[in-house]
Amino acid sequence: MLLAIPEVLTRAAALALRETIAAAEWVDGNATSGAGAASVKRNRQLPEDAPVTRAAQGQVTAALMGNAAFLSAALPHTVFPPLFNRYGEGETFGLHVDNAIRFHTASGARIRTDLSATLFLTDPEDYEGGELEIEGSFGTLSYKLPAGHMILYPSTSLHRVTPVTRGERISCFFWLQSLVADPMEREILYDLDQSVQKLSAERGKSDSEVLRLTAVYHNLVRRWAEA
Ligand code: NI
Repeated sequence: MLLAIPEVLTRAAALALRETIAAAEWVDGNATSGAGAASVKRNRQLPEDAPVTRAAQGQVTAALMGNAAFLSAALPHTVFPPLFNRYGEGETFGLHVDNAIRFHTASGARIRTDLSATLFLTDPEDYEGGELEIEGSFGTLSYKLPAGHMILYPSTSLHRVTPVTRGERISCFFWLQSLVADPMEREILYDLDQSVQKLSAERGKSDSEVLRLTAVYHNLVRRWAEA
């Protein structure tokens, strides 16, 4: 599952959030690194426990929980509280894989990272470099999305952020554990849900075939989800 989701935040909301957090105190990005990532990571991050971070996390989480495309694609079980990073000129995050397990010290939560996400808070024309590059069987894909747009990608992939050579890139990122661990099962559910939504809009929710397919969808979720 590799999916770009437009307007998770409106552009105005994304830029306002960026402005608020840009004025806060930032720390070395290696505060949250796994051992493998630390050596290739050169960026800054908002401290996890700062009040400004908590407020920003609340805003992003609320937007995610109201986003139909995100919910359909991710089938989230637990979303790790979103974090925020900042790359100035010369800063970068070399090729790495995200840790399989993440502990959230404040809440004691422990998640398996199934999906990773970057929510862009800077417009692409405001910086050079800073592309998110994701490797997979499909080759290497490069993302630099407008402020408010988000890319959702498999946590199993190798990925990196190329060096910023002009301006500054501020983004939100997070990991989540899905209700459905198997990526293929998750993708089948997403495809089925997309079609059911479309058919439902065309024929109405009470159409008998729409009802039947909706039941198939929920029965597959029942079979595959670890609630
Ligand atoms: Ni990463």
